[in-house]
Amino acid sequence: MSSSDMTVIAGPSSPELAAGIARQLGAGLVSAELRVFSDGESKIRLLAGAKKNKCVVVQSTYPPTDSHLLQAMMIAKKCADDGAQVCAVIPYLAYARQDRAFLEGEVATIALVARLLEAAGAHSVVTVDMHSQIGLSYFKNITNVSSIPLLAAHAKAMKLHSPLAVSPDAGGAARAQEFARLLGTEMVALKKTRDRTTGEVTIDPEVDASVSGRDAILVDDMISSGGSIVKAAELLKKEGANRIYAMCAHALLIGDAAKNIMAAGVQDIVATNSIPGKHAKVDLAPALAQAAMAAFAGKKQEA
Ligand code: R5P
Repeated sequence: MSSSDMTVIAGPSSPELAAGIARQLGAGLVSAELRVFSDGESKIRLLAGAKKNKCVVVQSTYPPTDSHLLQAMMIAKKCADDGAQVCAVIPYLAYARQDRAFLEGEVATIALVARLLEAAGAHSVVTVDMHSQIGLSYFKNITNVSSIPLLAAHAKAMKLHSPLAVSPDAGGAARAQEFARLLGTEMVALKKTRDRTTGEVTIDPEVDASVSGRDAILVDDMISSGGSIVKAAELLKKEGANRIYAMCAHALLIGDAAKNIMAAGVQDIVATNSIPGKHAKVDLAPALAQAAMAAFAGKKQEA
């Protein structure tokens, strides 16, 4: 793949991933210098002109979420003001879980994020494993890259014993189903509920699959507090699972999440590099480069 009319702009949250995407595209790479003032405001300066006519802005919006999101918009605006067509590659797109008002008075914030990115000049957005179809529906031009084939390929090399793909909840069942299909094995979806006020997670103890002696792979779009994976791992352990792994697109792992997940009996956490860190073992660069190319060519890829 090569595109001499593209420039990849490395946002402050994703310099390595941006470099990988630029290599895949054979495109130039421009860094963005960040200064954060004492009041928390960000100031962005592109370290070279983005003179080419297509800019790929790479900026994942993990914490500090709001700052990373605004920085993505600042870069998109600069490129658009310079006359470029802008594709915003935001592998972890924050606010995707706020896709509707669950309680009276709440806001579907991801709809606002969609409008803001567009207003900043992003003609298209590329993301990874967006939490829901509802969230995707607010964007006029978005490509949702699935990490599942990449995670399944990684799992294939792990020499698992009688693997069982497990979704912690019904909402993620299709993801685990696809993962199981690619691995040539079975899946089960646990029955998770979350208290909308306290955020506390409960999982029904009934599991509709035989778990005993099998390696269980928990498959999720994201791990944030780790509460869902901890509860699911505890249940799988009780059901006699052999080894337990957690695989996800986005390992936010806030606070003691990783420690708590390991303490619950999980052997390892495997995630993509949408968020840098020691669990980022699966490289998204080739898939994101391809999706950005397709977005500029006006083609949408199916998730
Ligand atoms: C929820 O439906 C999502 O798919 C994840 O399971 C959830 O967001 C993970 O959050 P936490 O790690 O805080 O339980």
